[in-house]
Amino acid sequence: MDNQGQKSRSSFSGKVGFVLAAAGSAVGLGNIWRFPYLAARYGGGTFLLVYIILAVTFGFALMITEIAIGRKTRLSAIGAYGALDKRWSFLGKLASAAPMIIFPYYCVIGGWVTKYLVVFATGNSAAAAGDTYFTDFIARPLEPLGWFFLFIAATAIIVLFGVEKGIEKSSKFLMPILAVLSVVIAIYTCCLPGALEGIKYYFVPDFSDFSPMVILAALGQLFYSLSLAMGIMITYGSYMKKEVDLEKSVHQIEIFDVGIALVAGLMIVPAVFVFSGGKGDAINAGAGLMFITLPKVFDNMPLSNLVGACFFLLVLFAALTSSISLMETVVSILQDKLKWNRKVTCIVVAVCALLIGVPSSLGHGLWSGFQPLGMSILDFFDFISNSVLMPIIALLTCIFVAFFIGMDQITDEVKVSSNFAGEKLYRLITKYLAPVCIFAILVSSILNSLKIIVI
Ligand code: TRP
Repeated sequence: MDNQGQKSRSSFSGKVGFVLAAAGSAVGLGNIWRFPYLAARYGGGTFLLVYIILAVTFGFALMITEIAIGRKTRLSAIGAYGALDKRWSFLGKLASAAPMIIFPYYCVIGGWVTKYLVVFATGNSAAAAGDTYFTDFIARPLEPLGWFFLFIAATAIIVLFGVEKGIEKSSKFLMPILAVLSVVIAIYTCCLPGALEGIKYYFVPDFSDFSPMVILAALGQLFYSLSLAMGIMITYGSYMKKEVDLEKSVHQIEIFDVGIALVAGLMIVPAVFVFSGGKGDAINAGAGLMFITLPKVFDNMPLSNLVGACFFLLVLFAALTSSISLMETVVSILQDKLKWNRKVTCIVVAVCALLIGVPSSLGHGLWSGFQPLGMSILDFFDFISNSVLMPIIALLTCIFVAFFIGMDQITDEVKVSSNFAGEKLYRLITKYLAPVCIFAILVSSILNSLKIIVI
């Protein structure tokens, strides 16, 4: 990111600029597609409670750490860890692996969103609401691949020509519209007859649903949704001005991100209880949940095609801003390391992502017989990055800060811009709670998945 990075190092104007840019990277498919199906699968209210507790503790601490490291070193992840302690430069490399795994399958789902936009825009709402419409679609060999190519091409062209500024500007007014539309749809869903049971499932924790897997899933989702544990927030921090209140910004980004996820869940989870078989179906629904239940909700609404098309258009924008930022990250890491020119790097990254993404797309049809760890190929990539790699990066980051560079480095950086009201909490989490808990969760979940493999 050298030249380009240097030029724009100070590009976030004022307080709002930073929060909006970071929230733009955070809000994406993670909130609207991933959060609701995980909440449905892992016990509704139980998952929600665990998620919120983790967000205000671990999420808060890790985001403070990453942004502060970035602002202090003025480097992106790959150089930042090494600049603070040479022995730890491997952590920057490890963190860079996460966006490389996520980017290809993110585009597969971006392709599904594009398809649904076209379906609604061409007036096919009734067909999309059919029970097997989605599963039939993703099982086809070629069609999902076509949409995936289209989405990745769009992302690559935007990154290649460096026109993301325009997209980002428009997303700044489109995201609030998405938030408002989601609230309207959520209210509509909740007023449908039979929704009450789903609302209860979504809000009231039932501790018989609780297991270490719930915590791991919530933790992985938290990192994914806030774009943490992959060095992104370090890069954003490196562009942040010293006078912007770091702690307050973190609170605002979290509120924004968790708020959108919460509403997305409310739009989708109760609908499973209205249109399908309730709790059992919610648990089994899996990654297609948004594409299966939402069309049913829309088809029930007046002007269904218009509402559906608007919704998927806005989701497409949210997905594009995130995929652009993911690709930009991968491109800048490779450019820094290999000193290739930008055009070549963009093309190489796009082609590699295409090749890596193809199995994720075919894994629901042609290649569905191949099930690593008993999951579809897309779920497998998702699991490896979010439930294995990112918790390990988060764990190592805490150890790095608490036991190697010293927490004062971070707290002093936060205090450059304001008092640090949450300092005690921050220290407690980073030094004791996070390392112990993340380690325990990781071990228990790995044992759990080994058990599944052995059986
Ligand atoms: N947070 C994004 C979302 O919710 C996904 C994401 C994860 C991301 N890591 C990222 C986006 C890095 C941009 C950059 O959809």
